[in-house]
Amino acid sequence: MTSLAASLRNVWKTYPMDGVEVHALRGVSLEIRRGEYVAIMGASGSGKSTLLNLLGCLDRPTSGTILLDGVDVSQLNDNQLSELRARRIGFIFQSYNLIPQLTVLENIEVPLYYSGQWNAKTRARCRELAEKVGLGGRLHHRPTQLSGGQQQRVAIARSLVNNPSFILADEPTGNLDSATAEEILALIDQLHQEGKTIILVTHEPEVAQRAFRLIRIRDGRIQSDLPNPRFATSTGAESAQASGQPNPSFAAANCLLSSPPSDSRAPSGSAIAIPPSAAEGGLR
Ligand SMILES: Nc1ncnc2c1ncn2[C@@H]1O[C@H](COP(=O)(O)OP(=O)(O)O)[C@@H](O)[C@H]1O
Ligand SMILES: [Mg+2]
Repeated sequence: MTSLAASLRNVWKTYPMDGVEVHALRGVSLEIRRGEYVAIMGASGSGKSTLLNLLGCLDRPTSGTILLDGVDVSQLNDNQLSELRARRIGFIFQSYNLIPQLTVLENIEVPLYYSGQWNAKTRARCRELAEKVGLGGRLHHRPTQLSGGQQQRVAIARSLVNNPSFILADEPTGNLDSATAEEILALIDQLHQEGKTIILVTHEPEVAQRAFRLIRIRDGRIQSDLPNPRFATSTGAESAQASGQPNPSFAAANCLLSSPPSDSRAPSGSAIAIPPSAAEGGLR
């Protein structure tokens, strides 16, 4: 198996906008090895989210090639793409994208529900994940009863439920105060230490400093791609090794999941709406 988690070759993304073409990405090429921790930085509108969404197979490039774990994603149909997304990728968004009607435990379970994997056994796994992110005592709270940091912890647990190899985080601390942001970033550090490949989008230099590799993009192009001098002697890749019936609210939630959040163009719904074909392989 290839040591490359992702490989992009001359990737363009163009959006038609009121008769004008917006070139969000203009020929991006890069390679990301398994277990790396990469920060993608750049000003607002530079193309960070577009790049992350392409890496996460939430969208397709206008041209160019994207390989994930050696698989050319342009060759996959929509079902195969969502299967790959379900098995390999966990998403964390700035706005958490939790479902307000569901409890903490149920929100963590959502991807399993949509993949047809939800059962009494997976509930135990979701409980473990809630404990892992420090929410063992909040299993039955709803998102409105949680702080922003706690909501992001739920989203992190949800992103892990299918045991993905990649974690893609788009401004994960953008809505949090600095102390809470620190806690969330420590959790992401921990996932990296456990061997996940982390790709984190941020416009905040302090947040990017957690990563071992810093990619700056500007106007849809890579401006620089450098190891983080803080970790001069090692790269991210080297350091990484180290019950009952479904809740009816899930069904109500489905329509919420299928529309993008209003504050970003990241299609969150497709991040967690998983086809039944993703059934095996995800769970530990
Ligand atoms: N769905 C879309 N339709 C039209 N233009 C878009 C769309 N998504 C992004 N863009 C444009 O592409 C550029 C890059 O956007 P984005 O990737 O969201 O930047 P960033 O995440 O760095 O703020 C911006 O000019 C933005 O307006
Ligand atoms: Mg963005």
